[in-house]
Amino acid sequence: MNTLKISEDVLYVGVNDFTTRLFESLWPLPNGVSYNSYVVKGEKTALIDTVEINHLPEMLEKFEAHGIASLDYLIINHMEPDHSGSIAKITERFPNLKIVGNRLTVGMVKGYYGIDDDARYEVVKDGDTLDLGAGKVLTFQTIPMVHWPETMVTWLADERILFSGDAFGTFGALGNGIVDSEISNFPTFVDEMYRYYACIVAKYGPQVQNALKKLAGLDIKYICSTHGPVWHDHAAEVVSIYDRLSSNQSEAGVTLIYGSMYGHTGKMAEIVAKRLEERGVTVKRHNAATSDLSEILADVWRYRGVVMGAPTYNTQIFPPVAGALHALQARGLKNRIAGAFGSFTWAGAACKLLTEGLTAMGLEMPAESVEMKMELTPEITGKLQQMADTLADAVLNN
Ligand code: FEO
Repeated sequence: MNTLKISEDVLYVGVNDFTTRLFESLWPLPNGVSYNSYVVKGEKTALIDTVEINHLPEMLEKFEAHGIASLDYLIINHMEPDHSGSIAKITERFPNLKIVGNRLTVGMVKGYYGIDDDARYEVVKDGDTLDLGAGKVLTFQTIPMVHWPETMVTWLADERILFSGDAFGTFGALGNGIVDSEISNFPTFVDEMYRYYACIVAKYGPQVQNALKKLAGLDIKYICSTHGPVWHDHAAEVVSIYDRLSSNQSEAGVTLIYGSMYGHTGKMAEIVAKRLEERGVTVKRHNAATSDLSEILADVWRYRGVVMGAPTYNTQIFPPVAGALHALQARGLKNRIAGAFGSFTWAGAACKLLTEGLTAMGLEMPAESVEMKMELTPEITGKLQQMADTLADAVLNN
């Protein structure tokens, strides 16, 4: 069992989840996930966030292993139930514990967990501090909508530790180490960070930018997020990844999202992909009917180009591709170079609807969309290659 310490007075009491298949009942967890909680010891003791309710016993085992017999405060940085789920049980177990959160947090604790006694709460606002004694002073900074309205971070100045909530989080359970300097699979956590950001946080890029500006003055030694490793060696890199993703920066490459019932639209996708690759463009192909949406979103948030193609189905976009388009729209994708193609047998709709959908997001569409009736012709092949050439120019030179 991990009972690791970040420092003598900052303890890890989080847990690994290797069994949940879908995070939020949506996103696959092939590498598991951790729900991170921390204890800060001064003259008084504070727990920062709890864990998902099914994993409370493991958290309590860690309390025991660390010799934590009492808690004075529960600091709540974030109320989503993967972190708040054990609040009711923790407050029952430690009846004198004060719940520390902002006004919005308190409303959510009351709503979710029915803890209505106002005497149990210590309501804080942006910039307030809590002195635990022995030099341990916690400062609270709100970071609204990263990615819930009540979210805040907690700064422990004397150790230069930022308890960041979901910010800088990633999928992936922790192995034998808690701090990144102890782990050997940093690249996996980076890949999972793209997926985590794109699925969970992406809609709130402007708010992440606000948070990064607000926290820019802190001389951070450790970032203790609620998911994934404690960032120390890679802290600057991780902040940079969140900065790039939340400001819509991208790498030269194209995410090609397509659907195909009988292979005809698939052939269109292959022509586009082949030409892009011949032009030196990285292409991430996703058959929307078989790729997981989380992988599609991670690539879209990473690469500059997004090309979507679909057959017409019941006068609409083939449903798996329509679902992917909706996921991009719902997250407010910006600053991408887009292309569209589609097919039909008797009445075309998918190509037009994809073009309209991508245009409505404000994406640049430098190439004419390509629509095919039934089967490829030399003319359609030429148009697709021309579209790929135009997109390659835009992606490589943008
Ligand atoms: Fe990990 Fe937004 O909860």
